Parts: sequence; C-alpha cells; structure tokens
Amino acid sequence: MIKGLIEDFKTLYKYEGEVKVFFSPGRVNLIGEHTDYNGGFVFPCALDFGTYAVAVKRNDNIFRMYSKNFENLGIIEFSLDRLINEPQDDWANYPKGVIKTFLEAGFNINSGFDVLFYGNIPNGAGLSSSASIELATSVILKDLFNLDVDMVSMVKLSQKAENKFIGVNCGIMDQFAIGMGKKDNAILLDCNTLNYQYAPVVLNGASIVIANTNKKRGLADSKYNERRGSCEAAVKVLNENGIDIKYLGELSVERFNEIKHLITDEEQLKRATHAVTENERTKVAVEKLNAGDIEAFGQLMNQSHISLRDDYEVTGFELDSLVEAAWEAEGVIGARMTGAGFGGCTVSIVKDEYIESFKKSVGEKYTAKTGLVADFYVAKIGDGSRKLGDF
Ligand code: GLA
Repeated sequence: MIKGLIEDFKTLYKYEGEVKVFFSPGRVNLIGEHTDYNGGFVFPCALDFGTYAVAVKRNDNIFRMYSKNFENLGIIEFSLDRLINEPQDDWANYPKGVIKTFLEAGFNINSGFDVLFYGNIPNGAGLSSSASIELATSVILKDLFNLDVDMVSMVKLSQKAENKFIGVNCGIMDQFAIGMGKKDNAILLDCNTLNYQYAPVVLNGASIVIANTNKKRGLADSKYNERRGSCEAAVKVLNENGIDIKYLGELSVERFNEIKHLITDEEQLKRATHAVTENERTKVAVEKLNAGDIEAFGQLMNQSHISLRDDYEVTGFELDSLVEAAWEAEGVIGARMTGAGFGGCTVSIVKDEYIESFKKSVGEKYTAKTGLVADFYVAKIGDGSRKLGDF
C-alpha cells in the first residue's frame, strides 16, 4: 500500500525525488469513558489501522494537502502567513491547526510542505480519525523541521489544536492513546497528572472486536460539551459546600457517596455518579486484566455501558441495540460503547472460536432492530504515531 501512496504522491504533485512516509493510528478505548476531562483514568489502545502520510518539504511558504479519503475536494492549498480555520478547507483545518499551534508554541517552521494523506479508519466512527491526523501532522513537523519536541508535548499540542483551532472541547485521551500507543498494550493514563503505565492486553484466546453502528453522530459536539458542563457544575456545587476538589476524578466512590447529597440538581448528580464510578471501574478493571481475570474485566465493561446508558445518557438506540445483541451472543466476555457515544462504535471481548458467529448473530439482530448494517473489525493493538521511513 505504501508504494501505491508514494506513486500517487509523485503523480499528484509531479515530483520525482525522495519522500518521507509517516503513520498515525486510530484508537479504541477499552474502559474509562468520559473520565479524561474529569481528571480520571482512561484505558485506551492504539490500533493497527490509521492515517498514512507521504510528505516533502517545500522551499516556499505554501502548504499543499490532499486526502485520498476526500478526493472530490482536490488539493487544498494555504500559506504559512495565513493559518486561519476556513470552512472550505474542510479536513485540512486539522493539520493547519496543528501547524499554527506549533508555531505559537515557538517552534521554527520556516517553510511549507506537500502532503498526501490516506486513512483506513472508518469515517466518523468514533475511532479518532481527527486525533490521528493531528498526530500525523505533529510527527511530520518534527521530522521535516528537525524539531526538538517529545511525544507527550506533541500530544498536548495536538489536543490544543483541536480545542482552540477546531473548537472541539475534547480531553487528552485520544491524542495520548494515538501518540503514545504501544503494540499489544493498552495505556492506563491518569488524565490529571499524565502519569501512565502500559498494560499488556493478554486475552487468552479472546480478541477485541469493534462494531460500528454506522449511525451518523449528529449534534455530538454540543451534547459532549453539555456533559462536560454538567460535571463542572457538580464540582462547583461541591466546592461551594467546602469540598476542595478540582475534578470529580479525585473522589473515590466511597467519598462521593458521603457527599453526593450536596448535588441537588438531578442531572448533575447522574453525570457525576457516572464520572466517579467509571473512574473506579477503570482502575479495578486494569488490576483484573493484569491479574489475568478477563471475565471480571468483561463484567466491568458491561457495567461501564450501563452507567453510560443510564447515568451519562450518551448511548442511544443504536449503541444500546448493538451492545445488547453482543451481551446475548455466545462467547462474549464483555461489551460496551466506546468513545464519545451518540453513535460510533462498540467494543467487545469475544472468544476467538465465537467471532464468526458473533458477527452473524449481532449483525442480524442489529439490522432487524435498527434497519442499519453494522461493520465489524477484529482489532489489533499497534504502535503510536511514527515515521515509517525515507523512500
Ligand atoms: C471523545 C473525546 C475524548 C473523551 C471521549 C469520551 O473521544 O475526544 O477526549 O472525552 O470522547 O471518553
């Protein structure tokens, strides 16, 4: 595939010299949902599919960008002197925002570059195609301009680009999982301190199966921000009542139960209940996985879904239908929605000998209920964003 992308680049830009090739994965979160911006734990991993980029530095201030996923948009061109979010630049606003954020952080980017992207992450599926292209851009910048910048800084700069330039108020999980991913490992990340540890995902004859609802995620951004707002409001109420915390993630379930009566707004209470219990589930789940107790890990995934459905209310008919069908299927150790919710994907742990029957029974039940057709991927956990080489 890489060879084909290099050929495409050379034909597109009428270029014959050496090119540089980069890869940045997608991600799936195993447990710890909507905990990142609450200063809690998440447990995501990078996938072996993602965004490929072929790039060559230019001698002037022009950037030319092309995506094989949006061929109808053609080459999108902009200049180093005019890094502004413009609707007609569509997907290219992601790399543009990263370039601008690097410049504002004081990195010396003194010319443009030509780039061709190709992503094999299903679009809009909640597997973080946007964070993937952000980190792809970061590793391109580091390499082309010889920048002295480490991966965690690139992760933070990519998140900042998404928050400030794109205007999506996401937490750090996606960028961190994608930048810091490690083959066959998930990452237990404390989103408050950014301390992290890798945990080998050893499933003893079972695999991670991602299922895409193929439901468009309309209004997801505004609902996401609403959830954030409710959690922040709950913290504020606790603060006003003398509880000195910055994030809900600082509270154990036990402590939360002692003080939760202070949160009088019912919706805020439900949101906070999810944030606190999910954080605890995530810590326990990783202990179980490390101890080889995959069944217990699966049970916690199921509980995570229920909490996201009933307390956080980010699942919806399609995700619930897909997860319920998974719970009923033979050989399933655990299943839940993954990512922001409101559509997108589910993640299940399925015993290998049942994967085919899982796809069939879950797919059929899902279609019968929703009229939509689900896609299934048996996920492999890959490494984080990186240069693949000079060609
Ligand atoms: C999206 C955001 C992440 C995280 C998840 C929910 O993927 O980008 O920061 O909040 O939703 O866990």
